[in-house]
Order: sequence, then structure tokens, then C-alpha cells
Amino acid sequence: MIRTRTSKEQYRSDMEQKIHHNISIIVAIGENYAIGKDNRLLWHLSDDLKRFKKLTTGHTLIMGRNTFLSLPNGALPNRRHIVISDVPGETFDGCEMARSIDQAIELAGNDEECFVIGGGMVYAQFLGIVGKLYLTQVYQSFKADTFFPEIDFRQWKTIRSESVEAGEKNEYPHTYTEFVRI
Ligand SMILES: NC(=O)c1ccc[n+]([C@@H]2O[C@H](COP(=O)([O-])OP(=O)(O)OC[C@H]3O[C@@H](n4cnc5c(N)ncnc54)[C@H](OP(=O)(O)O)[C@@H]3O)[C@@H](O)[C@H]2O)c1
Repeated sequence: MIRTRTSKEQYRSDMEQKIHHNISIIVAIGENYAIGKDNRLLWHLSDDLKRFKKLTTGHTLIMGRNTFLSLPNGALPNRRHIVISDVPGETFDGCEMARSIDQAIELAGNDEECFVIGGGMVYAQFLGIVGKLYLTQVYQSFKADTFFPEIDFRQWKTIRSESVEAGEKNEYPHTYTEFVRI
């Protein structure tokens, strides 16, 4: 049977879900859950980029093929990259390739903290199985073609939160919140 992308996501959500406490999602969303358009981000938030670098450096990153291709200079320094793609035989410099979500999880192994860094298709498959969520909420709605799945906040406990005003380096006001699964 040939599965479409949507059925892959459905397949994952229908499976009995094991929570991977060493895997975290890191994402920035607009008020309407928008995360991207034309394979690009929707905003420039200098502080959010610095925070992303600080949190993820030295760790393993898991991402979809489109998100990898959206990185302006390819693999990010000092981080292990696992790129999920169905395209057989394709490789990217500095990356390990996984053909499925399960293979990506297996490759990540027991790394202390692995970050799922996008995009929409990959977040949809991981949201139900990660132990931690680093959420940047941007206080604006955006026209977009890629969205984060709806978050059921009853399943998550806030452990840290910090707000940033808009300014020269940050286009929009936003809040960083760290959640752990209840
Ligand atoms: N706001 C944020 O924090 C944030 C973060 C990251 C990305 N983004 C944005 O998100 C957008 C990209 O997201 P996207 O949804 O288009 O793409 P994506 O999730 O980055 O990548 C999708 C690709 O990953 C592969 N894939 C996904 N699930 C798979 C599975 N179960 N098995 C095998 N391969 C699988 C497929 O690659 P193949 O087609 O090669 O099979 C698929 O086409 C961009 O606009 C980007 O800027 C935003």
C-alpha cells in the first residue's frame, strides 16, 4: 500500500505512543500556529536564534528534508544532524539520513537530549511522543503554508517562561516557554 504524507502522520498518531523523554521539540509559532512559508521562517527574531543556538549546540538535531534544505549554509556547527527523507540514496554533507521517524529515533539512541527542529510534517509526527517542548509564541498571525499541530496544553506543565519585547533585533514580541509532558 502506498501511504501519502497525511496517512503517515495518521499512522503515527494511531499507534500506541511511547514517550521519548530524551527527545524535545523546539519550535516558534505565530498566534495561528503558523511556522513557515515557501520553505522559510516568517519572522526575524535575533534573540530566538541565539536561544536556539545555545540550547541545541552539542546536541543531536532531528529534522525533515525541507527544514534541512531551508538552512542557508547547510549543517549547523557543533551539532549532530539526522535528516528524515524517503528519497533513497540521497545524502547531505554532515548529516545522517533516516528513512522514517522510527529510524531517526533509533539513530538518536540514548543521546542525553535530542531536538526535533521541524518542520510541520515532522513536528506533527513527534508532538505526541516527545517529553519536552520549547515553545516560542510570537504575538502575531501570519499568512503561511506550514503550521504546527494544535497543542493540548492540558498535557503539558510549564517549567520556565520569559517574555521579550519587540525591538530593533526582534520584529515581534514573543514568549519562550519550556514545557514538560505531564
Ligand atoms: N517556526 C519554526 O520553528 C520552524 C522550524 C523548522 C521549520 N520551519 C518551517 O517549516 C517549513 C518546512 O516544513 P515542512 O512540513 O514543509 O517539511 P519538513 O517537515 O521539514 O520535511 C518534510 C519532509 O521530510 C520527510 N519526511 C517527513 N516525515 C517522514 C517520514 N515519516 N518518513 C520519511 N520521510 C519523512 C519527507 O522528505 P522526502 O520528500 O525527501 O521523502 C518530507 O517531504 C519551512 O517553511 C520552514 O521554514 C519552521
